[in-house]
Order: sequence, then structure tokens, then C-alpha cells
Amino acid sequence: MNARYISINTELVQEADAKIHVSDLSIQRGFGIFDFLKTINGQPIFIENHFDRFYNSAKELGLTIGYDRESLLNAVKALMEKNNMPNSGIKFILTGGFSADGYTIGEPNLVITQSPFEYDTTAFDKGTTLVTYNHQRQLAVIKTIDYLQAIRLQPYIKQNNADDVLYHDNGMIRECPRANFFMVKDQRIISPKTAILKGITRSKVLDMTVADFSIVEEDFTLEDLAKADEAFITSSTKNVLPVLEIDGQKVGDGKPGKITRQLNEQFTALIQRG
Ligand SMILES: Cc1ncc(COP(=O)(O)O)c(C=O)c1O
Repeated sequence: MNARYISINTELVQEADAKIHVSDLSIQRGFGIFDFLKTINGQPIFIENHFDRFYNSAKELGLTIGYDRESLLNAVKALMEKNNMPNSGIKFILTGGFSADGYTIGEPNLVITQSPFEYDTTAFDKGTTLVTYNHQRQLAVIKTIDYLQAIRLQPYIKQNNADDVLYHDNGMIRECPRANFFMVKDQRIISPKTAILKGITRSKVLDMTVADFSIVEEDFTLEDLAKADEAFITSSTKNVLPVLEIDGQKVGDGKPGKITRQLNEQFTALIQRG
């Protein structure tokens, strides 16, 4: 197998040689941002939307991306050409940079990685199950590298026989650690509005049309969710994925819902158009 390449500050290096100094704020304080997109048949999906969010996350954390969009795009293209991996996940990480005192922001380092990624076409029918947890993500609108709570909760998820966790803030539904949440109820398709990361997949779903249904951003509670007809999560890797159970209770009839299926079909068509 050919060695995989990584882009560090737009220089291509083999994975084994890809190194960041330990004084970087990402190591010292977990300070950094990232974004993630997939490529299908060599086409990056929604790359402009991901760039918008990446530049915005950097701005919100006071980090400067030392590259304009064209240079960033060229760096992604160069990496893709070198790795020759048509179906993949591309992650661009911007760190807090080397910091002499381990606290002051330095000059950010840009790391771009590419890993094989193939969407599992059986995932939709299998659906997913969630267990709820009272937690509000810090700096929720920014895509930071902070997944402390999510990784810490992995044994909790396992103990509760769930696939993932659904965060709520004292009863107000928010999101999953790596996906946004929707419920379908009373002819409405609803995604929480406040204190969440605005996912690119979520924004595409919010722009869709489904006959006789409205699609809205609105906060709702665990209690509201208990009476939902359908629920699903959205993300760049999961597309539109039915939630069949929450806290051991079936959502609707416990099977992938009709509306969820329609939205996933629309989304699949959208990404296949490129
Ligand atoms: C906290 C959080 N919410 C939602 C999402 C989904 O966003 P997207 O649809 O852009 O992948 C992610 C993606 O990793 C995330 O980290």
C-alpha cells in the first residue's frame, strides 16, 4: 500500500513524517478548530460551505488562517492528487500554534488529512439508537477540536446499549456530539435552533421541501420529543439517519420513518449531483 500523505502548512509530507511541535496550543490546551468533508468519486462535497464554516470558526476563536480560500483549495487538491483516494474524508485542522508559555496564541498550524471513507448503504435501514445526557457543548457554534465529553461518555453509551448520545441542556434538546438532531411531529420537521453547531447537512435539509410538511428551526424539550412520529440525525458522514430508539423507548413505531426516508433520498440525490 502506498504511504498516505498529510498536508502541513500546505507542504505535503508522508504520514510518518507529519509532526507538530509539542508546544502547540492544540496539545498544551486543546485549543484549535477543524472542519470535515467527504469526497465522492474524487469530488469534494459542499467544500465552499465547509470553508465558510472553517473561516468563521477561526474568526470566532481569534485565529488567523494564513491562507486565502484559493490557497486552501489548492492545498486540498494537491493532497487529493497525491493520495489518489476518490472516496474519502478530508479533515482540515487549525491549531493554536506554537506557544512559548503554553497559553498565548501563536501562529496557527494548518494540518489537512485524508482518510478512506465509504458510506455504508445499509446504514439507513439499520438506523441508530441514542441515550440522552444533560450537557451543553462549550462554544457550541464553533467547530472546535473539543470532544472531551463525547469521548468521556463512550462507556456510558455502551452501558445503555445505545449507538450515540443526544445532548440536552436541562431538558432542551441540542444535538449529538457529531451530528444534528431533527424530530418529525404534527406535519412539522423540526431541528433545535439554539446553542448548536450549524451542520452543513442540517442546513441542506432545512432547505428541502416535503409536501404538506413545514421544515423549521425551533427549540423543543425532551417531553415534546417523547411524542414524536419520527426522529433522525444528520452529518457529513451519516447523511440523514433514522433514530429508532431514545433512552430505550421506540420513536414512533421504531422503524425508519417515511419522511426521514424521503429526506435521505433528496440528500443522496443532492450529493450525487456534486
Ligand atoms: C457538534 C456537531 N454537530 C453537528 C455536526 C454535523 O455537521 P455536518 O453536517 O456539517 O457534518 C458535527 C459534525 O461533526 C458536529 O461536530
